[in-house]
Amino acid sequence: STVARFLRSLPDSTLPLAVRGYSWLPDRMSDVHGGGVLRTRVLGQPAIFLRGPEAVDFVYDEDHVVRREALPGPVLDTLFGRGAVHTLDGESHRVRKGIFLGLLMDERGVADLQGRVVAGWREWTARHSGEEVVLFDGVAEVLAAAVSEWAGLPCSDASAAGTARDCVAMVDGFATPGPRHFRARRARREQEASLLPVVEHARTGRPGLADGSAVAVLARHRDAAGLPLAPHTVAVEILNVVRPTVAIAWFVAFAAHALHRWPDQRIALLTDEDGSRARAFAHEVRRFYPFAPFVGGLAWRDAAWRGQRIKAGTMVLLDIFGHHRDPAQWDHPRRFDPDRFLREPGAVHRLIPQGGGDPATGHRCPGEDITVTVLAALSTELASLGHTVPHQDLRIPLSRVPTLPRSGMRIRLP
Ligand code: HEM
Repeated sequence: STVARFLRSLPDSTLPLAVRGYSWLPDRMSDVHGGGVLRTRVLGQPAIFLRGPEAVDFVYDEDHVVRREALPGPVLDTLFGRGAVHTLDGESHRVRKGIFLGLLMDERGVADLQGRVVAGWREWTARHSGEEVVLFDGVAEVLAAAVSEWAGLPCSDASAAGTARDCVAMVDGFATPGPRHFRARRARREQEASLLPVVEHARTGRPGLADGSAVAVLARHRDAAGLPLAPHTVAVEILNVVRPTVAIAWFVAFAAHALHRWPDQRIALLTDEDGSRARAFAHEVRRFYPFAPFVGGLAWRDAAWRGQRIKAGTMVLLDIFGHHRDPAQWDHPRRFDPDRFLREPGAVHRLIPQGGGDPATGHRCPGEDITVTVLAALSTELASLGHTVPHQDLRIPLSRVPTLPRSGMRIRLP
């Protein structure tokens, strides 16, 4: 069409990306010996998009790609926050990341959060019994209440609803100009402001605050020089625990979509004896449905990838969406097939919905255990819920980042 031709003719890809979302990159990438590559400009800067297993290694090698000054202001002011762990490199990254690894990858802590989520879910489905509800909205509130308590935040039903709304807004508005973006900025400002007194209180010894909770650990952290984090940084990092946990609601809505579209999957989950099917299902939801479109940083010195020269200062971006649809890496990538992870247990190492490489040394998400555990648990709950799916618009628009079934996934609770 004329619009498509116009978008392709632009020297900068920011507008085409905003208009076409997830469907922009696959059309534009050219194959370079089995790995994809596209050179363009994003936000006026030279950028290269890469795809393929070797691209994952390249992008996650600190010797090639760094984060400082890589993330654009509009993304920091909505999604991550200024001074967040996402923006650090080298030693300062490792120290900050260590806090998250300790908080998020502890088996007992993950099980504790899972228990709170499942209890909240059962309470919510019982409270709304017989009603037609928007699953996405309800799950976001259940997750916000569970993670707030777990993280050591003072919490009521009203504050959980506000936290859910703001966290959803921050994720929903990061990649788009216009009203969604301004809602995201306001949500972040308000959440950060409301956390400052919480940080202060944690530092002056709030009674009842659990020592190992995210609020306590982040507020009382001392760096190598014995200095605490700035209160604003603590607020930003508390939100970097709460917001992405609420964001699991995107995957739960997709899980309900998959159970509706492929009813056999429900039987598989109901006959799951050791939890392995539920985890395989959670992995396939994370592979199959689009969420994070790409990750990356800046080339800090001249480098080369498969004969492609990459100049210092170029944005280097890893195509997550295309990676999971790449037939060179996945049999029948467009088939929703959780069993692929049972047939080939090693396949899980090719997944990058939450980044690649090693979470301990690089920027890979430290929240994958939590995501997979919570998603598997809620998928199993959904399989046995006995809800019906009323007629609705279940299309998932690829032009929207992040996307969701248009209806938000409405279900009628039993
Ligand atoms: C980083 C995705 C859930 C905490 C990331 C990254 C992605 C991602 C793509 C960036 C990797 C990179 O920069 O290379 C997701 C998705 C989730 C999710 C799709 C599902 C909802 C979580 C959860 C938590 C969490 C549940 C915490 C409870 C973090 C943190 C980082 C991060 C702290 C920064 C790591 C760093 O820069 O070293 N996530 N994540 N995420 N995620 Fe997640």
